Parts: sequence; structure tokens; C-alpha cells
Amino acid sequence: MPSISKVALTALASVQGAQAWGVLGHATVAYIAQHYLNSATASWAQGVLGDTSTSYLANIASWADDYRATTAGKWSAPFHFIDAEDNPPTSCNVDYDRDCGSAGCSISAMANYTQRVGDGRLSAANVQQALKFLVHFVGDLTQPLHDEAYEVGGNDIDVTYQGYSDNLHADWDTYIPETLVGGDSLADAQTWANTLVGDITSGAYKSQAASWIAGDDVNDVITTATRWASDANAYVCTVVMPNGAAALQTGDLYPTYYNSVIGTVELQIAKAGYRLGNWLNMVYSANIAKREAGDDAAPKPDLLGRDLLPAARPATRAKLARAAMEGACCKSRDHDHKH
Ligand SMILES: *[C@@H]1O[C@H](CO)[C@@H](O)[C@H](O)[C@H]1NC(C)=O
Ligand SMILES: [Zn+2]
Repeated sequence: MPSISKVALTALASVQGAQAWGVLGHATVAYIAQHYLNSATASWAQGVLGDTSTSYLANIASWADDYRATTAGKWSAPFHFIDAEDNPPTSCNVDYDRDCGSAGCSISAMANYTQRVGDGRLSAANVQQALKFLVHFVGDLTQPLHDEAYEVGGNDIDVTYQGYSDNLHADWDTYIPETLVGGDSLADAQTWANTLVGDITSGAYKSQAASWIAGDDVNDVITTATRWASDANAYVCTVVMPNGAAALQTGDLYPTYYNSVIGTVELQIAKAGYRLGNWLNMVYSANIAKREAGDDAAPKPDLLGRDLLPAARPATRAKLARAAMEGACCKSRDHDHKH
């Protein structure tokens, strides 16, 4: 008989499946960003969020995933990814006009919420929503499988990881990072963030961190976020499935595959945190500090960002496959489980 507990577990699993990078990844990105915020930007962000704790960005880093999983928030599901219709592992690339669907994508969402977070016409609640979306989407953009249409971002690639039957997307979002760190609490995220900040400040990433933000421009968000998406998407060909998907379905992904990808997972989390900190500092100084000082001569764009979307195109097979998942970005394991 279908027991209550089976139903409860299924509900739990669908909540868990809403995480992308999981809770751990997004909170880690947020803690790294907090480290790099200047004090004016940090006070502004704390005011917008109504949170002066030491975890003010980490506390809301996965809000967008929880919201997307609700009936009221379903409309925002397409903002968590861009379905690049390339051809991995032979060729990887992102083309905004080709890949961003008419319902929007992570790149158009970055442009929309970057504009909205600094728009003095909006309510405090709308500005807070914009900031919460930005903190989340900078993270999603660095997860290679959030920049890939193939098999619905790997959601339809069934694999085995540490003895569990699941899919490649969920392993990248959640289980591979959790294997490294050992948990998904805020304390775990803070610890991982401290390690990565050390790598950026004086370790392995010191010489490359400047290149992660080179050219980032709050007045040209589409170009900037497309560069971030292209950077992550390239790893689909070189690291995520260099020998194609079938090669990942012949045995347990742990430990050999895990060892081959974990360095890229850490790099991408570090990049997202560093970019987010820099982005919020730039948004604050370019769009908010000036307005607060009464100097706001900039033209007023469409509040719904309708001009940001590419021209509508006929639905492709990849877009139809995504629609069959009801626009969601991520499937979870069949049953809830904790490492
Ligand atoms: C911009 O954000 C608003 C508020 O969340 C939303 O209604 C609108 O659809 C968004 N536009 C785009 C292009 O994402
Ligand atoms: Zn997400």
C-alpha cells in the first residue's frame, strides 16, 4: 500500500531537488562575496535585506530555489539556467539570441535584476527581491550544467554516485560539493568560503582572480553574464563530459570522476563569490550611491525588462524537453537521503 511515509519522502525529495548549486554551494558563494563587499555596499545590502547578522547574504542565497518550487514562484524557474544548444563534447558555446528562451534565462534575469535593484521607482520589497535573485543567479551561472541544454542540463543523464542512482545534474549541484565539505550547514559553507578566500587572496587563485572579473560592466549586463555563462559552459566539453555522457554511465562516479572534477567545482564556486562581491560593489557605486546623493539623471528603462529578451524563435527539441520538466532546472534523487 502507498504509505504516508512514501508520500512524505517524495515531497521532501522534490524540495531537495529545488537546490541548484545546492544550499552549500550558494551559501559558500554568498560568504565569499560578503568578504569582498566594501563597507558602504555591505551596509546598503544589510539594509535592503533587513539583516545585520554576519550571514546576511548567505541567509538568502537559496531563497530563489525555494521560491521557484512554490506555485507563486514557478514563473521564475527559467531564470536559473540558460539552455545552450551546443554539441558537447565536440563543441561548446553559448549564444544569447539562440539560447535564451522567450520566458527569459539566467542572463536576461541578471540584466533585469541588476537594473531593478537600483531603481528608485520600486518598492522596498521589489528591491529586496532583486537583490535576492542576483545573489543566487551569479552562483547558478557558474555551474556548467546550468549553461547547457544537452539532456536538460544533465538532468536526464542517469548515473551512479557513491552507490546512489541519481543524475549528473544533481551530483554537480549538491552531492559532489557535499562529498568535499562533509555537510551543507551554514558553518560548513563558511569554512569552505574561508578556504577559497585564502586561495584567492594568497593561494592558487591569486594570479587569476583579476581575470574572473575583467571587463565586467554593470552597464552591459548581457555581455558580462554571457561571458560568465560561456566560461562555465566550456567546462561541459573539457571536464563535465569530455568523453560524452555514455562514458559516465558505466560505473560509480566516485572516486575517479569525482577526483577529475572537484578542482573545477571549487574554482567555479570561488569565481562566483568573487564576481558577486565585485558586481554588488559596482552596482552600488554606479546605480545606488549616486541616486541616494540626489544625482540621478539616467534614463528610466522599462521596469519589466521586456526589451532585454531576445526575439522570439520557434521551439527547439531542447526547449520542448525543458518544458516537459515544467521549466524546472533540476531533478533530485528518487528518494531523500543524507550523506
Ligand atoms: C523583471 O522582473 C520582474 C519582477 O520580478 C518580472 O515581473 C519580469 O518578468 C522580469 N523581466 C525579465 C525580462 O526577466
Ligand atoms: Zn538556482
